Amino acid sequence: MNPQYTALANQVVLLIKKHKAQSLQPICELLKENVPHYNWVGFYFMNDETKSLKIGPYAGAETDHVSIPYGTGICGQVALSGKPLIVKDVTTEDNYLACSIETKAEIVMPIYKGEKLVAQLDIDSHKKNPFTSHDQYFLKQICDWISEVL
Ligand code: SME
Repeated sequence: MNPQYTALANQVVLLIKKHKAQSLQPICELLKENVPHYNWVGFYFMNDETKSLKIGPYAGAETDHVSIPYGTGICGQVALSGKPLIVKDVTTEDNYLACSIETKAEIVMPIYKGEKLVAQLDIDSHKKNPFTSHDQYFLKQICDWISEVL
């Protein structure tokens, strides 16, 4: 992991140890404030009964997308695939829900509790093609830790 991400990952671990399930909001704020290409950071939770995602804690501009049907948008695609999804340029993605006109790219990471997909970490960027394998590795690590306290 690059050194900046290692330092942030250590802070995330401390937040999770201290605040358990209440750490999600401070984690959103920590990531948004410290990674310049993370402009909206938030969680969505799976609801298999309604087949929709419900918004959880987030940092960034208010969004209309508080409930997203499985299959709709980038988050809805991850709800069905269960796999991470990076969209380098949202203008090329047909199945996309715009949160802000400033958003140029997005990464969505699934969060599993054991075998079950329970939530997602969604990050929007104002920069085109900003997400690398470093981001994916870093965020996967965070999602694994968060899974322990959900
Ligand atoms: N862009 C997402 C919707 C959530 S907002 O980015 C906060 C999507 O297409 O699923």
